[in-house]
Amino acid sequence: MAQAAPVVPLLGQPSFITLQSHVLGEERRHPGATGTLSWIISALSIAAKTIAAKLRTAGIEDVLGDIGAENVQGERQQKLDVIANHLLIQLLRAREGVAVIGSEENDELLLVDAAAAGGRHYSVLFDPLDGSSNLDVAGGVGTIFSIFQIGDGDSGTLQAGRHQVAAGYVLYGPSTIFVLTTGHGVHMFVLDPAVGAFIRVAEHLRIPARGNTYAVNEANLDGFPPAYRRFLAQCRAQGYGSRYAGAMVVDVHRVLIKGGVFMYPPTAKAPQGKLRLMYEANPMAMLIEQAGGRASTGTQPILDVQPDALHQRVPVVLGSPEEVAALEAMLAAP
Ligand code: AHG
Ligand code: MN
Ligand code: MN
Repeated sequence: MAQAAPVVPLLGQPSFITLQSHVLGEERRHPGATGTLSWIISALSIAAKTIAAKLRTAGIEDVLGDIGAENVQGERQQKLDVIANHLLIQLLRAREGVAVIGSEENDELLLVDAAAAGGRHYSVLFDPLDGSSNLDVAGGVGTIFSIFQIGDGDSGTLQAGRHQVAAGYVLYGPSTIFVLTTGHGVHMFVLDPAVGAFIRVAEHLRIPARGNTYAVNEANLDGFPPAYRRFLAQCRAQGYGSRYAGAMVVDVHRVLIKGGVFMYPPTAKAPQGKLRLMYEANPMAMLIEQAGGRASTGTQPILDVQPDALHQRVPVVLGSPEEVAALEAMLAAP
């Protein structure tokens, strides 16, 4: 009589969940899902791996420095801003269902597939390389993205951040980290370069209720509205430390993991602050809220701001719920 095949013993190793399998798992929670969003996230992960690889050899290959041109916002474009932007556009425009692309580095929304009929359509907005002034000094940089579903004929309309269906960032640091939400918590993946895959290292991240550092460009302090100055003075009196990388992805990642507050307030020179609503503030706000934190313009939740322009700026205060609430209370006080 034939013997039954022996059962393969469990070796007690963790089962590696890749970004790809995580996203497929999320898709299964939505009975009507078409897989289009998963394909878009897969394009973003390929872009992330490619940008990470380029950054590893920057300085050896001729990809550093600026290109001698400015983007629509009057900022000097770095070569890697342009390379990362091109890569993201090429990858995303090849994905079925991507109808609209918006980038920090392009003046206008790009209508990729405005005529597409049937199926789901999405718009993908991104900051291809965040903190690019850190590139020349091998400092941390990132990519930030925001995804909306759009209806037929709605391709040119910008929606409030509350309607995002997914958002995330990639942090290119000592390791490459992909942080994602599709509206069911915040999940973190680390790139294993030997395998070429993002491996899930944390599920349902929760931001601490409060922290002990703040992240702000303190050189602008004199130009901040008085309530911000009072709040920062109170933090210092309570023994807070300061951490500021000058790259939103790096600074927000720290706040997400360790707690505390990140802010880019209005200044005398920039009354709406510096950060852009559609591809910096909104995606970070969705992530922080999904992790149990708060994200505010100082007077209202960032996610409720009704946009009127692709590159519009907005003051940003985000992080642990206690600090953000304390600052909002100071701003509201007469
Ligand atoms: P980008 O490199 O995409 O233009 O973004 C830079 C932003 C953001 O990453 C950071 O939080 C902020 O600029 C820093 O500005 P300051 O140098 O004024 O502090
Ligand atoms: Mn940026
Ligand atoms: Mn940028």
